[in-house]
Amino acid sequence: MYKIVRKEVLNAQVKLLEIEAPFVARKAEPGQFIILRAYDEGERIPLTIADYDREKGTVTIIFQEVGASTRLLGSLNVGDSLADFCGPLGVASHFEGVKKAAIIGGGLGTAIAYPQAKKLHSMGVDVDVITGFRNKDLIILEKEMAAVSNRLIVTTDDGSNGTKGFVSDILKKLIDEGNTYDVVVAIGPPIMMKVVSDVTRPYGIKTIVSLNPIMIDGTGMCGGCRVTVGGKIKFACVDGPDFDGHQVDFNELIRRLSIYKDHERAAQERHQCRLEGKINA
Ligand SMILES: Cc1cc2nc3c(=O)[nH]c(=O)nc-3n(C[C@H](O)[C@H](O)[C@H](O)COP(=O)(O)OP(=O)(O)OC[C@H]3O[C@@H](n4cnc5c(N)ncnc54)[C@H](O)[C@@H]3O)c2cc1C
Ligand code: FES
Repeated sequence: MYKIVRKEVLNAQVKLLEIEAPFVARKAEPGQFIILRAYDEGERIPLTIADYDREKGTVTIIFQEVGASTRLLGSLNVGDSLADFCGPLGVASHFEGVKKAAIIGGGLGTAIAYPQAKKLHSMGVDVDVITGFRNKDLIILEKEMAAVSNRLIVTTDDGSNGTKGFVSDILKKLIDEGNTYDVVVAIGPPIMMKVVSDVTRPYGIKTIVSLNPIMIDGTGMCGGCRVTVGGKIKFACVDGPDFDGHQVDFNELIRRLSIYKDHERAAQERHQCRLEGKINA
């Protein structure tokens, strides 16, 4: 069983859990993810490895409560255990030869980008981090990102904290001011990763994005996580989740992500009825 040893509430919708999982911690690398089930009949939830501690044998996950399964996960507490915690899955990020990098985190994507910034910083790379949130109440990991970057710019869409504006505009400004990045890593909503990739394309800056299509088995067999990259079919669970942002068909990704919206809404309504003691079939 995978015991929860730490729980933090990062904002109204985002929680952090540190889980006892020594075998996963031993092999985990930035860029990889796990698939967990909170209980035996639970849905499989893919989540990025936000941090790991090989000595303590723990893995940290940070997740947004967006639907029934993530809500249930968020209701667990220290001392509770998860039924499964499978990983590390996916291809680890590689940054050989990088001297200067920009890490862009959009909303919850900041949590997924954190291990990448930490890794680059530990390699002695000059790291600029730009994180963007809808408003000041949604800001997460400010202190942690500051500790693993040479410069941190926090933006809010409404200007309620930090710089007003979108992360992509700040990135363009930094590039135009003469910052020469060997790589840009952009992680967040698909539309934000698309826009950042469009910003860097004319400058020829290598741009890595992390794709989160619907995943089921996480081993390349079900085809659920199919994405098109450079005109070829790839499976995000085994070929990614990191890909070249200039090659990704974002329009297809956005279309495929909305396929199950009606089912997700129905599951959430059933979950709410259960919470109120009215069990729906
Ligand atoms: C490789 C990978 C890494 C991820 N890392 C994180 C992370 O670190 N933190 C985080 O908050 N979220 C992460 N996600 C997304 C997370 O898996 C979904 O938010 C979660 O599964 C939603 O489940 P739900 O039942 O609560 O919501 P639902 O109501 O079922 O779905 C809400 C939305 O979540 C997404 N989703 C649902 N089921 C899946 C699935 N099986 N696979 C992928 N996406 C799904 C869809 O976009 C959907 O519209 C990651 C997804 C992938 C594929
Ligand atoms: S999740 Fe099944 S092929 Fe990737």
